[in-house]
Amino acid sequence: MSAHLTVVDHPLVQHKLTIMRDKKTSTGEFRQLLREISQLLAYEVTRELEMTTKVIQTPMQEMEAPTLAGKKLALISILRAGNGLLDGVLELIPSARVGFVGLYRDEETLQPVEYYFKVPEAMENRVVIAVDPMLATGNSSVAAVDMLKKAGATNIRFLCLLAAPEGIARMKEAHPDVPIVTASVDEKLNEKGYIVPGLGDAGDRMFGTK
Ligand code: URA
Repeated sequence: MSAHLTVVDHPLVQHKLTIMRDKKTSTGEFRQLLREISQLLAYEVTRELEMTTKVIQTPMQEMEAPTLAGKKLALISILRAGNGLLDGVLELIPSARVGFVGLYRDEETLQPVEYYFKVPEAMENRVVIAVDPMLATGNSSVAAVDMLKKAGATNIRFLCLLAAPEGIARMKEAHPDVPIVTASVDEKLNEKGYIVPGLGDAGDRMFGTK
């Protein structure tokens, strides 16, 4: 992708996002909307995938038809909230390979610490889409991308629902080669590192843990 930041301003995305932000929206509705919106975002994040052609036989005649080039995509969910985005994206790209990155924040150093890492083989030959609904401080996202690069990935995109300017700046500084696709750039982070106006804790809202 060419742009470092793409904000998907499609009316359906923006309408669904407004319902998701509303604190009155139930867990079930939130999850359903996340699934729908993630497919619309996936459409955008895959817009510039490389294509090739193959010869097929339609019922009418032979034709040289467009098809995706290269190895299957790798979708990487940054646990746990990434799983909410992953489900919808997988519906659109069912043949994608899937990986998981688990990080927690060390309460003393405030740095992300890895607790789980499992990704598909041949990462260097795949388009890799890392998914996490909230790009907040950017600390865990940057750490996740570090890990993906260490595993060989060279063509990574970052897909999120909301981004804070602070997180975008952090990602751009650490990984200028990783384009970000999001539905919104919100105003700022609050003192606890939450995005405002935001939508609260994405994991809690999609899994109903609060
Ligand atoms: N993670 C969330 O779930 N929400 C935020 O606002 C920031 C990080």
